[in-house]
Amino acid sequence: MTKEIFRRIRTGDGSWTVRHAAFAETYHSIHGARTESMHVFIRNGLAYVAALGGKKSVAVLEMGLGTGLNALLSYEYARSQGIKIRYTAVEKFPLQNGEILLEGLPEHEARILSEIHRCPWHAPCELDAFFELQKVRADFTDKTFPAETFDLIYYDAFSPNIQPELWTPELFRRMFAWLRPGGVWVTYVAKGQVRRDLQAVGFATERLPGPPGKREMLRAVKPEKS
Ligand SMILES: C[S@@+](CC[C@H](N)C(=O)[O-])C[C@H]1O[C@@H](n2cnc3c(N)ncnc32)[C@H](O)[C@@H]1O
Repeated sequence: MTKEIFRRIRTGDGSWTVRHAAFAETYHSIHGARTESMHVFIRNGLAYVAALGGKKSVAVLEMGLGTGLNALLSYEYARSQGIKIRYTAVEKFPLQNGEILLEGLPEHEARILSEIHRCPWHAPCELDAFFELQKVRADFTDKTFPAETFDLIYYDAFSPNIQPELWTPELFRRMFAWLRPGGVWVTYVAKGQVRRDLQAVGFATERLPGPPGKREMLRAVKPEKS
C-alpha cells in the first residue's frame, strides 16, 4: 500500500484543508480554512493594497501555493472588483491531487481551482482577463526576483517552529527588496521575533486582530520613498 502524503481535513467553517505527512501542521487554521484566508490574505492584504490609491492592477507573490485556496480567493476578489492580478506562487511540494479540495465548492469555484492546479509550472497561465498565474516549482529560500516586482506578498509558510529557515532576517531583507515602495507583506503569524526582524530590515509593522482561534496577525509595509 502506498503511504498517503496528503490528508484532507474539514475545518471549523466547513471548508477543507490538508496536512502533509512530513509537516506536523495543517495548511490552514482548523477553525476555518476559508475564513482564515479571507481574513489574513484577502481583507488585510489584497483589499488593503487595492484600496491604496485605487489600484487597478496588483502583482502578488505567494509563498506556498499549497491547496490554491489563496489563489482562488484572490481570483474571486479580482473579478468582483474589476482589477487585474498578476499572481506568482512558489511551491516546493505540490499537491499530488489538487482536486481533493473541490468538494462543497460552488461549481464556478471548483472549475477555477481545477484550472489553477492544471496550469503548467514555470509559464504564465491566463485564467481570464482578471487573473494571470505563474506557478514556480522551487524552494523559496533559493528564489530571487528583481527588485520592486511585487505590490503584495502573501507569506503563508508553515510556522516558525516548523520551518525556521523560512523566517530569517536574510529572507525578510530579500522580500523587502522585491516589494515596490508602499508594498505590503502579510502573514497569519504574530510572533514578536518575526515582527522585530521585519522592522530591522526596514518594514513598518502592524499587529492586527487575527482570524478565529488567533489573537493577532502581522502586516508589514515597505515605506514609500521620501
Ligand atoms: C501553510 S501551507 C500554505 C498553503 C497555501 N497557501 C494554501 O492556501 O493552501 C505552506 C505551503 O508552503 C509549501 N512549502 C513549504 N516549504 C517550502 C519551501 N521551502 N519553498 C516553497 N514552498 C514551500 C508547502 O508545501 C505548503 O504548500
